[in-house]
Amino acid sequence: MHNGVFCISKYATSIYSKCMFNAKAYSAASATSPLASSTIVRRDPTEHDVQIEILFCGVCHSDLHMVRNEWREVMPAVYPCVPGHEIVGRVTKVGSAVSKFKPGDLAAVGCMVDSDRTCPECQAGLEQYCPNFTLTYNSPDKHLGGVTYGGYSDSIVVDQRFVLRVQANLSLAGVAPLLCAGITTYSPMRHWGVTKGKKVGVVGLGGLGHMGVKFAHALGAHVVVFSTTPKKKDDALRLGADEVVISKNADEMQKHERSFDFILDAVSADHDINAYINLLKRDGNITLVGAPEKPLAVAAFGLLMARRSLSGSSIGGIPETQEMLDFCGKHSITADVEVIPIQKINEAYERLLKSDVKYRFSIDMASLKSE
Ligand SMILES: NC(=O)c1ccc[n+]([C@@H]2O[C@H](COP(=O)([O-])OP(=O)(O)OC[C@H]3O[C@@H](n4cnc5c(N)ncnc54)[C@H](OP(=O)(O)O)[C@@H]3O)[C@@H](O)[C@H]2O)c1
Ligand SMILES: [Zn+2]
Ligand SMILES: [Zn+2]
Repeated sequence: MHNGVFCISKYATSIYSKCMFNAKAYSAASATSPLASSTIVRRDPTEHDVQIEILFCGVCHSDLHMVRNEWREVMPAVYPCVPGHEIVGRVTKVGSAVSKFKPGDLAAVGCMVDSDRTCPECQAGLEQYCPNFTLTYNSPDKHLGGVTYGGYSDSIVVDQRFVLRVQANLSLAGVAPLLCAGITTYSPMRHWGVTKGKKVGVVGLGGLGHMGVKFAHALGAHVVVFSTTPKKKDDALRLGADEVVISKNADEMQKHERSFDFILDAVSADHDINAYINLLKRDGNITLVGAPEKPLAVAAFGLLMARRSLSGSSIGGIPETQEMLDFCGKHSITADVEVIPIQKINEAYERLLKSDVKYRFSIDMASLKSE
């Protein structure tokens, strides 16, 4: 359905000349509102665009941080906010210059839908560090004005450069979370050389953490999970951990002092990162992927006494995201998901805060048809 009066040009920017269509979505009206059914507009695909019918969208803790404006100091939320950046679906339409996809193909979209394509980061295929990237939601929308809307929706239109290929052998509900939880854990492990013979820790067995365990195991490392939840122990071992440490137990923690090559910290809330820094070997690295609302306190001596380093890492670039999806296809890796209808999203957020999900919610977007 066209909402615009007519199309004057493919690149027209006037509100009266855009070609758009209505899409169903779930959005939050404010930081304290629940997500609710709404209608948004999407652009008709321009020549390089791919239109995708969204089949599944994962529920990332970042969606919750953003909807509740917990990152207001760095990335304030604009309302209405349609979150969702773990998107998998089927191509329904392509622009005239699209060569990578055709209608009927499987396709996926992660946390970014565009970037400036010219800066050194983009040229290195590290679009996630482009100062001018466009995030899948809550970024200025270059085409329609306002902000971009994410995957809690029945469709999305994205430039083919930011659309990924998915192998048909994988379950789609479990593929969706690879687009954020997957790449965010895969990328730092590749960067820091996680491989056979390395001792690797994963802190926090949530959506990101459980993918970190799967990747570290598939890359051949000796994997130790640190969890605050004793009842996750069996799951951690099943997911590929060699050992599980309940992080509240000081004796268990001490046994691993100065022994890790690399630790991935995927905790969503305030916690004592120094306890993990002390477990690194000389020259070991701990990478933060978790993005808690408040700053973490770091003790200088933990770092300097053994030349340890603390880093951060953000999602991954488009080439590496494709590499990760291909790796998952080859090794039959998907996320462990609990599939929910969109109508359960507010309940899912409450459960996410209690770490009550094994290990990612994946929204079945067919449920949006009844709205
Ligand atoms: N860097 C990036 O590019 C990027 C990308 C995506 C997400 N993120 C961020 O990464 C974080 C994790 O996301 P997620 O989707 O994996 O979240 P999640 O599924 O909620 O997992 C977070 C895990 O952290 C642990 N945890 C929670 N509260 C804790 C506390 N108070 N103390 C200690 N541990 C606690 C829990 O593990 P246990 O029960 O095992 O202790 C929980 O399962 C979020 O902050 C998210 O915004 C960053
Ligand atoms: Zn995410
Ligand atoms: Zn750039």
